[in-house]
Amino acid sequence: MGKDDAILNAFKEDQTVEKISADRKLRVGIIGCGWIADAHIKAYLAQPDVEIVAGADLIPGKAAAFFKKHGIERVKTDYASHKEMLDDKSLKLDAVSICTYNRQHAAPAIYALEKGVNVLLEKPFTVTLDEAIEVVRAEKKSGKILTHGFQPRFDENMKMIKKIVESGELGRVYYIQTGGGRRRGIPTPFGTTFIDPNTAGIGALGDIGCYSLDMVLNAIGYPKPLTVTGYTSSFFGKDPNYSGYRADKRAEHAKIFGVDDFAAAFIRLEGDIILDFRISWAMNMDTSGDTLILGTKGGLRIPSTECWNGTVGGPMKIYREVCGQQVETEIPIIPMKKSLFELKIRTFLDAIKNNTPAPIPSEQILYNQAIIDAIAKSTKLGREVEVVIPEI
Ligand SMILES: NC(=O)c1ccc[n+]([C@@H]2O[C@H](COP(=O)([O-])OP(=O)(O)OC[C@H]3O[C@@H](n4cnc5c(N)ncnc54)[C@H](O)[C@@H]3O)[C@@H](O)[C@H]2O)c1
Repeated sequence: MGKDDAILNAFKEDQTVEKISADRKLRVGIIGCGWIADAHIKAYLAQPDVEIVAGADLIPGKAAAFFKKHGIERVKTDYASHKEMLDDKSLKLDAVSICTYNRQHAAPAIYALEKGVNVLLEKPFTVTLDEAIEVVRAEKKSGKILTHGFQPRFDENMKMIKKIVESGELGRVYYIQTGGGRRRGIPTPFGTTFIDPNTAGIGALGDIGCYSLDMVLNAIGYPKPLTVTGYTSSFFGKDPNYSGYRADKRAEHAKIFGVDDFAAAFIRLEGDIILDFRISWAMNMDTSGDTLILGTKGGLRIPSTECWNGTVGGPMKIYREVCGQQVETEIPIIPMKKSLFELKIRTFLDAIKNNTPAPIPSEQILYNQAIIDAIAKSTKLGREVEVVIPEI
């Protein structure tokens, strides 16, 4: 490489992969061997410094079949629950991925942290704010890393939103509209754990709502939520004629459905910022609208996606005034060269190895959960609620 190349390369976007030392392998276990565990295991297998040593699932034989499917041998799976696996000292676990359904996020996370194991916890944080607070307490006590499975954070286009806000291009941000929606997209392809209140606890609100909240809250520095007026409904999930269900499962799924399939909220954030939010698994509309971030100097439009796939739905646009003229600037889409899941796993492993903070810290995701929790509470009470988060 000549001197000029070196100078020019300095302006290139850096998405290169650093060489990873495989000298010290991290010993990893998987808790919950269902749908999303597939993405975790594939990402771990792509890392040279990981040894998958154990897996647990409540369903007998499921963990063993999971590792067999992925061609991984010598993995211990004879555990009836996460507890048995985490109690097995012979494993010498450095880390676990918790890929259980929402209702089983808090208990395994707390237990793993108490056992001194670093945790990558799938989204949403938990079902209730109280559970999330208990997890954060366990995290603080343990001194271990707890990071959260919000992989869209690693998308360069998502990062661009934060860069734009932080650059001051928008001036003072005072209003945000966000959310997203599916027209017919209640997730039941691999069973009912997303719609059964005993396993999911929350529906669209937690499942994809947590992502859209994270997209904008992260961009503006996660201000504290103050008050929330929320609404949730379940008109589609409970309907035995809902066309999004498999025809032979309609009656069964409608009977099991016990979470929300639509949610909306008006949220006041610290710093006098208003957040107008809506999310849907099913509605009679193609989209609930683009994400808009309004500031005193500029506004940003982030096109919605059809379904949450961890990126923006098209080139973003900044709306501004220049010398009395109304102008618009298009932000081209940045192609991603790396898988978001690999980045999610890699950043977790690097934080463990380098003893650096969690890539997606609990202090932030606690506010995300506080909003979700307040929406559920406000819906129940039929009025605005104050968000109260105790000192942890
Ligand atoms: N980040 C993403 O892109 C993404 C995508 C899909 C799902 N998820 C999240 O991942 C989680 C799991 O979703 P899924 O689709 O894989 O669900 P799933 O129902 O397919 O799998 C969950 C598995 O966890 C097991 N399990 C539950 N509690 C357990 C415990 N205490 N110990 C051991 N095993 C336990 C269940 O038996 C089940 O096999 C959900 O919270 C979901 O929101 C994230």
